[in-house]
Amino acid sequence: MIISASTDYRAAAQRKLPPFLFHYIDGGAYAEYTLRRNVEDLAGIALRQRVLKNMSELSLETKLFNETLSMPVALAPVGLTGMYARRGEVQAARAAASKGVPFTLSTVSVCPIEEVAPAIDRPMWFQLYVLKDRGFMKNALERAKAVGVTTLVFTVDMPVPGARYRDAHSGMSGPNASVRRMLQAVTHPAWAWDVGLFGRPHDLGNISTYRGHPTGLEDYIGWLGANFDPSISWKDLEWIREFWDGPMVIKGILDPEDARDAVKFGADGIIVSNHGGRQLDGVLSSARALPAIADAVKGELTILADSGIRTGLDVVRMIALGADSVLLGRAFVYALAADGEAGVRNLLELIEKEMRVAMVLTGAKSIGEISADSLVRELGR
Ligand SMILES: Cc1cc2nc3c(=O)[nH]c(=O)nc-3n(C[C@H](O)[C@H](O)[C@H](O)COP(=O)(O)O)c2cc1C
Repeated sequence: MIISASTDYRAAAQRKLPPFLFHYIDGGAYAEYTLRRNVEDLAGIALRQRVLKNMSELSLETKLFNETLSMPVALAPVGLTGMYARRGEVQAARAAASKGVPFTLSTVSVCPIEEVAPAIDRPMWFQLYVLKDRGFMKNALERAKAVGVTTLVFTVDMPVPGARYRDAHSGMSGPNASVRRMLQAVTHPAWAWDVGLFGRPHDLGNISTYRGHPTGLEDYIGWLGANFDPSISWKDLEWIREFWDGPMVIKGILDPEDARDAVKFGADGIIVSNHGGRQLDGVLSSARALPAIADAVKGELTILADSGIRTGLDVVRMIALGADSVLLGRAFVYALAADGEAGVRNLLELIEKEMRVAMVLTGAKSIGEISADSLVRELGR
């Protein structure tokens, strides 16, 4: 039975998924210090309880990039989501749309953009990596426009992929990986039936559409490895503006100087993120990085944040630290793996309920009223 968004869905996902997939989701880079700190730093921030303030009227509604959200939450781009549940991107996007929040499709999704966008009645966000293959990027931007994507999320914290040692232990990579994955699949029949058999094609939909032929899991690792571009700089982002005139958000900002550069570049928003602790282990948690970034650029562009958010209380904490809105990564993926679209819908309901309790008991009637004053200062910031 699912009672808590933060722990029960993770446990259920672990039961259902073959270990190579569970650990791919759950793990981080190197010794996973940043992964743990993302969660612990955020959960350790003390909310400031206030009482007797007539909190009968609450509004969680948020305006972001000319869109109205039912609450300040979006689903983060997560690669290979279609491996965690049958056509997982479509299920997650439907759940998000039904709850009035945006879904962000990853570049490296299983379902292609043309499969996901028509399945929902709300505009989708699309995430793009800066890749060497500019032909692919141009093609992806054209396709995003064609299906009505509103907001483009540009992920810039992956000029090189961070090493995730758990993947080699779990069979995601390393010696005999394909045999190990096969063995794990047959010993997890619920997943094997739902995704292994009926979730095909297991493909990187956006990339295979571009290349004109299917790409498997092995290809995914090879293609990514060959295409990340360590030479990228702000200059490289400029040509994107020729192809994209909608809102553009830079994902992977962790330093106030970079946030200022994003303002200079003319970005509409940034996502304060360390990729969920999956890139450079040892960097600041998002919760600790956020206040200085907010001090530097608040009001000049939209500030989003992710990494470590597991509950509605965490959403309120991130907003109190200076975010306008947040993205959920693993939190929604665990729920999707455990119970598909219904799981993500339920997770979003739990997050909303938790936010409501936190807002009532910190005396914030609207998202705009959540501020540094919602935290116990000497403990929280
Ligand atoms: C399994 C997995 C795959 C991810 N794939 C992508 C991706 O394709 N593009 C991207 O920008 N971020 C990707 N991320 C990072 C998320 O967008 C987000 O920044 C991160 O999950 C936030 O941390 P949290 O999961 O602790 O909340 C991925 C994260 C996970 C867990």
